[in-house]
Formats: sequence, structure tokens, C-alpha cells
Amino acid sequence: MDLHAKIIFRKGEIIMDSLFTSKNIKDLEIKNRIVVPPMVCFNFPVNNGFVSENNIEHYEKMAKGGSGLIIVEATCVSENGRLSKDQLGIWSDEHISGLKRIVEVCHKHERKVFIQLHHAGLRTPRGINEDTITSSDYNDEKVSARAMTKDEIHSIQEDFVNAAIRAEKAGFDGIELHGAHSYLFTQFFSTKVNKRTDEYGGNFENRIRIVMEIFEGIKQNVNSSFVVGIRMGCNENDLENSIYMAKIFESIGIDYLHVSTGFDNTAIDKELPDDFPCNWIVYGGTIIKENVDIPVIVVNSIKTVEQVRYLIENKLADFVAVGRAQLADHNFVNHIREGKDVIKCLDCKPCRWFIDGRNCPVQNR
Ligand code: FNR
Repeated sequence: MDLHAKIIFRKGEIIMDSLFTSKNIKDLEIKNRIVVPPMVCFNFPVNNGFVSENNIEHYEKMAKGGSGLIIVEATCVSENGRLSKDQLGIWSDEHISGLKRIVEVCHKHERKVFIQLHHAGLRTPRGINEDTITSSDYNDEKVSARAMTKDEIHSIQEDFVNAAIRAEKAGFDGIELHGAHSYLFTQFFSTKVNKRTDEYGGNFENRIRIVMEIFEGIKQNVNSSFVVGIRMGCNENDLENSIYMAKIFESIGIDYLHVSTGFDNTAIDKELPDDFPCNWIVYGGTIIKENVDIPVIVVNSIKTVEQVRYLIENKLADFVAVGRAQLADHNFVNHIREGKDVIKCLDCKPCRWFIDGRNCPVQNR
């Protein structure tokens, strides 16, 4: 139980505000139901993926803000697989001490903290890697990449396992594998990219093999209490398939699911109930939650306390990740707890945090 849990008085009854009840992920107690999802702070890290003072200051603000769980931004397991030059890295032991400082500021404020492990695959821009790789030879109007050899698959799997070991050494409570948003794992999951004919392509089990083997490798090398979750799409390649994928992840021992979008943003083929106050991505997450027993985090464009409350009170999700709205108002959770209005995210297109969050118009007000 969160010691600062808010008590609501309703018709004379005292009801504990469900947002501020604790819930475990595996054996780890998360003190409330609001999560900071992974969000790269572009322009914050110094060269070669090292944590900077800007990163520390940012995570300390987020930790003070009151979310039960902070998932640190997509942090690359390989120098050649970065999404941009200003992304955090975890491909070398030298990264551990900076990452440890992020953990320390989160733990100081009694937040649990995971780190998202990432490889961009065909989304790595030229300039970082001239020889971009993915599951199969790939070309569209914007990008091209070549098929990975089996040795390259094994080498990247090792990078992920080593990154998880470093994350544990840095003191993180767990890791999240980035299996969403068009990055490397989705390029294996999706038949839109994966045309391989070996054991890493073809049927569904083969297309998720890269992650299954990484998960096994991580489990053999970290303490049993260390949490390992995955961010996945609810539309990979459709909702039915995502439900099946979620069940398989649960069956192999993945500790939680964080449901977003997969290789692309094709909406799920499902009508939303009239009174559902969020979009199809969140709805997809709630359907996945109905099908598994491990904790599910839902996310996307959740910006109001009413939306968060609806999802948690109706037990449609275990946790609700609130991204841009917490970038706009670092005290989003404290404001809810104190019954104050939250400062509204202005929904800039694109979000200023994709360039440099210090120019976010709201938090600079
Ligand atoms: C993101 N998002 C994201 N997702 C992810 O899995 N890893 C990441 O590192 C990032 N980085 C990132 C940076 C910035 C600036 C933004 C705005 C978003 C996506 C994010 O986690 C979330 O899924 C979306 O922002 C949708 O949720 P909100 O913001 O509508 O609550």
C-alpha cells in the first residue's frame, strides 16, 4: 500500500482510491498503478550513449512526480543498432555507472525502475550504420536493410543478454524488451518484413524465436527476482495473433506485458464500446489483459485522471502508462493524489520531446 494513498469519501463510505493501491509484478511491489512509459529524451545524453546530468535531472523529476513505476527510455544494446546518436546505450560495461545514477534517483524517491532494452534494426539511420540489418531483405520508399545471417542473430541475442546483466548490475528492478513500434523484434514478428525460411521465420513460433531465446538467456544469467517484461503490439499482425503471442509470452514466464502497437499502426478490427474513453491501442491492451493472468500495462493518449480511473476501477488494466501527459506535468500523479488539476499536455505535433524536451511549451510555462 502506498503510504500516501488517497482516501475517497463517497456517500459517507471510505473507499481507498484504487489508483493508489499497490500491485505486484512478480514479487516486486509497485505502490500505485501509474507508470512512466519509456520515452527517449532526445538531445539529453552525451556522446556514445552515456548518461548526462540532464538525464539524471529528468529522471529525478519523474521520480518525484509520484508514479509507482518508471520505465527508463529505449536504451540500445548495440552501438550499430541505435535509433539516433543521442540515445542512451548499454552495450558496454562503461555505461553501468551512469545508469546506476538513474536507478539511485528513482529508488531515493521510492519508485521502482525498469529499463527498456532496444535495437532499431532497419530503423537505424544511415550515419549510424551504413549496413542496416533486419529479418529479411527489406525495401520501402524510406528505408532499406539486408537480412541478418544466423550468426548476426546470435550475436544480437548475446547483446541483449549482456545488456540485461548490465541492467541488473546497475541496480534496475527489471528490464523491458522493446517488442513494439517497428523496431527489430517487430521486424521478426511481422510477416510484412520477415520472409525467412529458416528457424527464425515462417510460422509464428519461428518468428518469435529470437525473443524466446533471448528470454531464456537472460533468465539463466540474472537473479530469479529480476523482472523481465516485454512491450508488444496489440495489432501484430492482428489482435487475435497478438492475444496468442501474449499467451505464449505468459507461458514461458515473461513477468508482464506492456501493450502498444507493433510493426505498424494498422488499427485492430474491433469496434470499441460506446462508453470506452480511450483509443483502440488501449482497448487492444484491455482485451489482451482478459486473456492472460500476468500484469498488463496499457498505454496511448491517456491524459486525464478520469481515463486512468476508468481503466483501473473497472479492472481493465493492472497499470496505466501515462507518457506525454507526465512529460508535460511531472507532478501528474501528485496532482491527482492531492485532488488538484493536472497541467494539460498541449499535444504538439510533433511532441517537442522528440527534438528536445527543454522546449516543451507546457513545462516551460
Ligand atoms: C516515446 N515512445 C517510446 N516508446 C518506447 O517504447 N520506447 C521509447 O523510448 C519511446 N520514446 C518516446 C519518446 C517520446 C518523446 C515520446 C513522446 C514517445 C512512446 C511512448 O512510450 C508512448 O507509448 C507514447 O508516447 C504514447 O503514450 P502517451 O504519450 O500518449 O501517454
